[in-house]
Amino acid sequence: MSSAEQISPLDPVDLIYQHGLAIVPGFIAADICTALRADIRQLLEAGEFRQAGVGRGAAQQTNQDIRRDRIHWLDGSTPAQQAYLACMEEYRIALNSRCFLGLLDYEAHFAHYNPGEFYRKHLDAFQGRSNRRVTTVVYLNDGWQSEWGGELEIFTAQDESLLKVEPQAGTLVSFLSDEFPHQVLPATQPRLSIAGWFRINQSLAGVIDPAR
Ligand code: OGA
Ligand code: MN
Repeated sequence: MSSAEQISPLDPVDLIYQHGLAIVPGFIAADICTALRADIRQLLEAGEFRQAGVGRGAAQQTNQDIRRDRIHWLDGSTPAQQAYLACMEEYRIALNSRCFLGLLDYEAHFAHYNPGEFYRKHLDAFQGRSNRRVTTVVYLNDGWQSEWGGELEIFTAQDESLLKVEPQAGTLVSFLSDEFPHQVLPATQPRLSIAGWFRINQSLAGVIDPAR
């Protein structure tokens, strides 16, 4: 076997196990990304995207100072969404068997950021207050140019800037939801992503994280 053959592709499960953070270009195949973009186009034309909220359930509010994106929750109603959700189901099962995370289900939304829009630095989950354990973000813009901006900037738990990821179609960013603050920087082009969360089924002193 040549040395090239011994280099295995990046495995997000290994990276999560070792670092709690994974960045994997090409995680979602190009044809699935193309089909997902077509889904988004259709949903946008049908007026099916809504201003994203901040917070959960009854406490949810829209806060334009924090986030500006518009979202649509995936419901698995198209072949593209089914293909995407099947990839995430495979990832969920692999995470559970390697990392014993007990992830039970997955929720995800398309996100559309217009030029200039952002999502300020935040955590996706606070310890003991959320069922979200592992975040996934998958990008859908084909041929993204560095000068367009729109990176996801990830910080350490100590709030030091760790790295910036360009929103290139097919790239998966995944991390432990309560450990990595992150922010979406404004772009000069429309920016498309799917943000999702694997959840555990834990009652939080009677307050169960609502589905959305
Ligand atoms: C989120 C989020 C990141 C991105 O929706 O919580 O952080 O790059 N999205 O779209
Ligand atoms: Mn987030």
